Amino acid sequence: MKRVSLGAARPNRWRLLGPATVLLCLLSYAYYPHLGPSNFSARSQTPSRSSVVSRCHALRLEAGPPEDFHDRTESDRFEPGTKPHLIQNAKLWTGRHNGTEIFSGDILIDKGLIKGVGHFGSAKLQKTYGSELVVIDAKNAWVTPGIVDIHSHIAIGPSPSLDGANDGNSLKGTIQPWLRSLDALHTNDAAYALSIAGGVTTALILPGSANAIGGQAFVMKLRRTVERSSTSMVLEPPYTVNSSFPDPTRPPRWRHMKHACGENPSRVYQNTRMDTIYAFRDAYNTASQIKKQQDEYCSKALANEWEGLGDFPENLQWEALVDVLRGRVKVQIHCYEAVDFDGIVRLSNEFKFPVSAFHHAAEAYLVPDLIKKTWGPTPALAIFATNARYKREGYRASEYAARILADNNLTVIMKSDHPVMDSRYLLYEAQQAHFYGLPDNLAIAAVTKSPAEVMGMGHRIGEIKEGWDADLVIWDSHPLALGATPVQVFIDGIPQLSNPHAVEKPATFQQTPPVPNFDREAQEVLEFDGLPPLEPTPAKSAVVFMNVKSVFAPSASESGIEQLFSVTNDGALGTVVVEDGVITCVGVCSMNLAEATVVDLEAGSISPGLVSFGSPLGLEHIQGEPSTFDGPVYDFLSPNGVPAILGGDGAIIRAVDGLLFQTRDALHAYRAGVTSAIVAPTSYGVLSGLGVAFSLGAAHKLQRGAVLQEVTAVHMAVLQSFSSPSVSTQIALLRKVLLRPVDGPSKEWFEKVTNGEIPLVVEAHSADIIATLILLKKEVERAKGRTIQLTITGAAEAHLLARELGEAGVGVILNPARSFPYQWEDRRILPGPPLTADTPISTFLAHNVTVGVGVLEIWDARNVRFDIAWASYAVGGNMTEAEVLALGSTNVAKLLGAKSARKFTPDLVATRGGDLLSFNSKVVGVISAERGLVDLL
Ligand SMILES: *[C@@H]1O[C@H](CO)[C@@H](O)[C@H](O)[C@H]1NC(C)=O
Ligand SMILES: *[C@@H]1O[C@H](CO)[C@@H](O)[C@H](O)[C@H]1NC(C)=O
Ligand SMILES: *[C@@H]1O[C@H](CO)[C@@H](O)[C@H](O)[C@H]1NC(C)=O
Ligand SMILES: *[C@@H]1O[C@H](CO)[C@@H](O)[C@H](O)[C@H]1NC(C)=O
Ligand SMILES: *[C@@H]1O[C@H](CO)[C@@H](O)[C@H](O)[C@H]1NC(C)=O
Ligand SMILES: *[C@@H]1O[C@H](CO)[C@@H](O)[C@H](O)[C@H]1NC(C)=O
Repeated sequence: MKRVSLGAARPNRWRLLGPATVLLCLLSYAYYPHLGPSNFSARSQTPSRSSVVSRCHALRLEAGPPEDFHDRTESDRFEPGTKPHLIQNAKLWTGRHNGTEIFSGDILIDKGLIKGVGHFGSAKLQKTYGSELVVIDAKNAWVTPGIVDIHSHIAIGPSPSLDGANDGNSLKGTIQPWLRSLDALHTNDAAYALSIAGGVTTALILPGSANAIGGQAFVMKLRRTVERSSTSMVLEPPYTVNSSFPDPTRPPRWRHMKHACGENPSRVYQNTRMDTIYAFRDAYNTASQIKKQQDEYCSKALANEWEGLGDFPENLQWEALVDVLRGRVKVQIHCYEAVDFDGIVRLSNEFKFPVSAFHHAAEAYLVPDLIKKTWGPTPALAIFATNARYKREGYRASEYAARILADNNLTVIMKSDHPVMDSRYLLYEAQQAHFYGLPDNLAIAAVTKSPAEVMGMGHRIGEIKEGWDADLVIWDSHPLALGATPVQVFIDGIPQLSNPHAVEKPATFQQTPPVPNFDREAQEVLEFDGLPPLEPTPAKSAVVFMNVKSVFAPSASESGIEQLFSVTNDGALGTVVVEDGVITCVGVCSMNLAEATVVDLEAGSISPGLVSFGSPLGLEHIQGEPSTFDGPVYDFLSPNGVPAILGGDGAIIRAVDGLLFQTRDALHAYRAGVTSAIVAPTSYGVLSGLGVAFSLGAAHKLQRGAVLQEVTAVHMAVLQSFSSPSVSTQIALLRKVLLRPVDGPSKEWFEKVTNGEIPLVVEAHSADIIATLILLKKEVERAKGRTIQLTITGAAEAHLLARELGEAGVGVILNPARSFPYQWEDRRILPGPPLTADTPISTFLAHNVTVGVGVLEIWDARNVRFDIAWASYAVGGNMTEAEVLALGSTNVAKLLGAKSARKFTPDLVATRGGDLLSFNSKVVGVISAERGLVDLL
């Protein structure tokens, strides 16, 4: 279930801007400040000729650090009292040599700077520094520069999201180069500490994408400063922090600006793409006329021709855009499709301004030559790894884009768009890009060196070099290993984690993870213009899987997952024979191979297919396009309620009736080992309806095995973020339908709930609401004399009640798997290492709470295998492989009403090169007893 009610769009407010935004915008539609070239504001006092001359000279200065920048011995950000640190025995990814240099040694930091990289005896340094020196033995741990996020809305869209601080998107016009994100850099954002805990040290804070020109952006370091002010967090503030116009005596620092093309500015202002590009052209025309007048003015002033010259042509609204034309602004453009790049490329050549990076850039990998035609240096591409297809313009995004762009010598950057994605896990984007084929040196550079350089800060961050800022992360594993977690983070030489909790990782996690070969898939995505066929091909004969290391399957006793085969002590790998979708032999099998399809798993595994829940997977193709989805049910508590013909208050809707098969996200998930899903009707109110379980590999509803269980459970939601009616009213509705259901089609199902026949599944996040639900369960059980099955989904704060949930026999689907305080009602998350030793999952397991994991958005269903593996690392390797697989399969099925977990997770998944839980492996087959086939992928 997705909550997208007015003002409570979570977590997609940033991406889709939310319905509330669109409504407000209609009111401000015609507002478009239009200034002719004669509309110049003169300075109040006539400046002296000498200051005009220096102002004119200053127009020619290039932006960047001063020439003597590297003579510095102390950082401008140094906080007095910060102790020098020596990190010994580190494995340093320095960023040099195209990101290929790995240096084993020590690193000395002091005065906010990296003072040396080499081999230092601490005894000798202690002579220099005395007892001040803090020595850390990294024990051969990986150390990288701090993670740099080139696309963040941290600070201007603080978490938890509250209306009083929703400052990221101005709704005052299409073109607003005069706005500054600096003016909305909130110092109170729960995300700072979380993102730092993920190793993020610097972020470029962009205004939102509601406007074609959204305003000026600022780079900030995420640590709290002694001054605790917004300005003190800004890195290399340009002159504009203190004045409207430049101080000509000071060299300009890089400025930054956000542009956006395509759907977002068009939607908000009811523009077409033609309107948006015209708005750009009009703005750039204005700016270029001002620039021309300034240049003509200055050529006269510098030639000492003062006759009739008047005042220097200056304009507060347009000065920043004039600076873009002077090449002194890093322009970051949110842009998805070829048509939009094309418009910007023409604009940049017409007005001669460089583009720093295209962001989101879904189709960039299809048009590398077009990107290279941008005026000036070739823009970088700041992209997501697998977050795609949430709107039309992102439909052709590809997981292979990063490697294809790199193959074309384009600079690839991974970004968060925080809070669209929690920037704490920005490194995971690089890990996924690496998994799908981006070379390791470029993958790490994509979140360190490349964004630092592209934002004009490469002279001080993004690499480990003497004289650079002391922003470093010590990791518990190789940074590209799934689940890599900081054990310490330094910003400006200051350790950020006061009491870090570290988890032991296996030795294999210290090496670059080996990843599968996706060359064929990367070829196909180009061949098919971004939409390669994803439908599986069933094998035509019996299938023999060779060189199998392990086989797991749901146990016959329904108790979970059991291991049917594991490699023998002498290391001999096994064989698995499948006929008509049924395994007929495991281990040592004699078989006529000539008649079978042979698949070499290269020490891979066979595991239960995973089960996705939590997103509208199966009811939606493109989130942003109503004509592609099933749509929301009527809200029982809205003033109009449900139409009488449907049964009015007694109506109930079945998700099975709205199922859409073989959406691209379903097929991507299938190809990643997620073979089935459970979905409830989409609802923005309390009562959603009846869930359904279905196969992600089936072509349509009438195919054998397509619908696994027509009705699974009754789904509801009790949320504070439904701003009305009250939570207590929502609970009153629940109590009413459970104790005294009204006549109508729903009565039968509520009675099944109170008879304990099917579960009641309630989305709830706040511990207070969950506590009320536990009490309500007891109340209903007392009244009806039966035990009812209750499952809580979402469950961000459920860890606070783990004991009570365990005692009440209430299970939990944690969704998302890694909590984030999106809303007030989930602010009390348990963040896990390095901030806390416990995670929600470890807490639930300790109290016998059955737990599964979910996803919020349909594109993310494919990543369940990584979500569960990652969750298990954070628990410190205490879970068996069977228990980890259950988190994403049998537990989910059981909690959501599977009559038989075995029937419900009928498919098995074959992986080559490793097991389903590791980055080493690729899913190559799905064995489906229910459908009587083996799909080869
Ligand atoms: C530009 O001129 C318009 C109309 O004369 C006026 O309303 C506006 O305030 C002026 N803007 C500036 C920045 O001077
Ligand atoms: C940088 O590394 C990538 C990937 O390893 C490689 O393809 C590219 O040629 C390298 N570039 C240079 C300039 O060495
Ligand atoms: C802005 O003003 C403050 C306070 O006077 C000063 O500390 C800071 O250095 C100034 N910043 C710039 C970029 O001029
Ligand atoms: C990328 O750069 C390398 C080295 O400069 C060059 O050999 C290669 O042809 C370039 N590839 C493309 C697609 O431009
Ligand atoms: C969890 O279950 C086990 C086995 O049934 C039992 O020994 C243990 O006491 C239970 N723990 C809690 C916290 O209820
Ligand atoms: C793992 O198990 C050990 C031994 O039972 C226990 O001490 C430790 O707390 C567990 N770790 C986690 C993270 O649950």
